[in-house]
Amino acid sequence: MRKEEQFTREDADITEASNADLVRLPLQPLFARTPHLHDDDVVAMRAKLRDYFVSTFDRYEYLFSCLATDEVAFFQGDACNLKAQFSGYDFILAANLIDRLYDPAVFLRHIHERLKMGGVLMLASPYTWLAEHTPREAWLGGFRKDGEPFPTLDGIKACLESHFTMLGEPQEVPFVIRETRRKFQHSISEVTCWERIR
Ligand SMILES: C[S@@+](CC[C@H](N)C(=O)[O-])C[C@H]1O[C@@H](n2cnc3c(N)ncnc32)[C@H](O)[C@@H]1O
Repeated sequence: MRKEEQFTREDADITEASNADLVRLPLQPLFARTPHLHDDDVVAMRAKLRDYFVSTFDRYEYLFSCLATDEVAFFQGDACNLKAQFSGYDFILAANLIDRLYDPAVFLRHIHERLKMGGVLMLASPYTWLAEHTPREAWLGGFRKDGEPFPTLDGIKACLESHFTMLGEPQEVPFVIRETRRKFQHSISEVTCWERIR
């Protein structure tokens, strides 16, 4: 596999690349919101990247502080086997969840039961299917079917189409996981919104 192909993978990790790779590769379309990477000054470029990742992390911390109010309640449950009390919602967000579920199709095929008619389901996922989280046979996409690539979005549509219509077009939303003080994982989620119509 060529280096360029490695970097188009959804789980691309920029920390795997050497400085020379970072300068050479056409990363800007993939990392649309990150600082420009076609700089010859590697030191300056790394500083820009570090600032970008640290400021993103700070925004997460701000979000968590906003959520820590009396108006927000937290419950823990199995998304593939939710208790009946979790229903009647206007909006459900499944952020970076489906590719970590043991049976994402079960989650998607039943989630309409939790939403009011006209309610919206928002999915965000980088579709990084891994057998350690999701058995291979339960993946929604990211494999070949009849010799052709089968995108996860097609698998999602198949699960949701009897109760939902997609709102607008899929959007790419980057997110950052700070693994250590010096290592950040940068992924691109595909975000889709679905209105319950049946
Ligand atoms: C990649 S993390 C995403 C966390 C968070 N939503 C975010 O966007 O930062 C995936 C999360 O899914 C949770 N998860 C895995 N299987 C689950 C299940 N069956 N039911 C509910 N949550 C599950 C994991 O505990 C983990 O917190």
